[in-house]
Amino acid sequence: MPYDYESDAAIIKDHLNCIHIGSEILFLPEIDSTNNLAKKHSKNNAQEGLVIIAESQTGGRGRMGRSWHSPPETGIYLSILLKPNLKPDHLSFITLLAGVSAISTINEISHQPANLKWPNDILINDKKVCGLLCEMTQEKGSSFSVVIGIGINVNQLPEQFPKDLKKTATSLRIVNGSPINRLTVIRSLLTTLDREYRFFLAEGGHSVIKKWKLNTDLFGKKVSVKRGSVIITGTAMNLDELGRLVLRRDNGHAEVIDSGEVTLG
Ligand code: BTN
Repeated sequence: MPYDYESDAAIIKDHLNCIHIGSEILFLPEIDSTNNLAKKHSKNNAQEGLVIIAESQTGGRGRMGRSWHSPPETGIYLSILLKPNLKPDHLSFITLLAGVSAISTINEISHQPANLKWPNDILINDKKVCGLLCEMTQEKGSSFSVVIGIGINVNQLPEQFPKDLKKTATSLRIVNGSPINRLTVIRSLLTTLDREYRFFLAEGGHSVIKKWKLNTDLFGKKVSVKRGSVIITGTAMNLDELGRLVLRRDNGHAEVIDSGEVTLG
């Protein structure tokens, strides 16, 4: 029987109690990347709150130019378009807000606690269960738009991950020992993101950073941060008021990192 994505789309839209998110929801059986399509819609002046969900992606993208393995029937691949009218250096709050929302949904379902790894990986038992790719777009004469791309490993079995991910990736099914309804996860995610976005618009970035810090076990750990060809090592200490990672270098000096790839140890 062919996969009935139209009825899944209707289930997601039904009773979705959101104010900003879900102004339009597109559910596609296959696309190159939901982020790419969301950016195209943004260029065509799509409304804030557009959600694009794909059953599979042929060119799913991760951070740092990596790809995101996106086969059908197992994972969640979705993108959300927001137009928060912020200064560019405050857009990092949206990335952290997406992480706070995704971890809240994951913790509702997972039998084991999840942790955020800066800037935005979500790990369970030190293995990645969710990745976020936030991208900015700006059209001539208009303010910034942000596309939040979220990939969640939901129903993969260990043998379904490609060889290079087997040691580092996990899924909610592996953690819980039973399959999970992806539509329930999507609805929870959109509802939580809508709620957190409303808090953020009302209260600002301070509360986002506070919630982010409550959901990480990174602080006090030795880390290496890769930025291009440079690797900086130190102890992760905190996030600053803009959500940047504060490291204590081995010489005792503090260093603030605004982007990069964190590895433990
Ligand atoms: C990462 O951890 O490197 C980020 C992964 C982000 C993957 C999601 S899946 C939906 C959206 N579309 C993409 O092409 N990428 C993001």
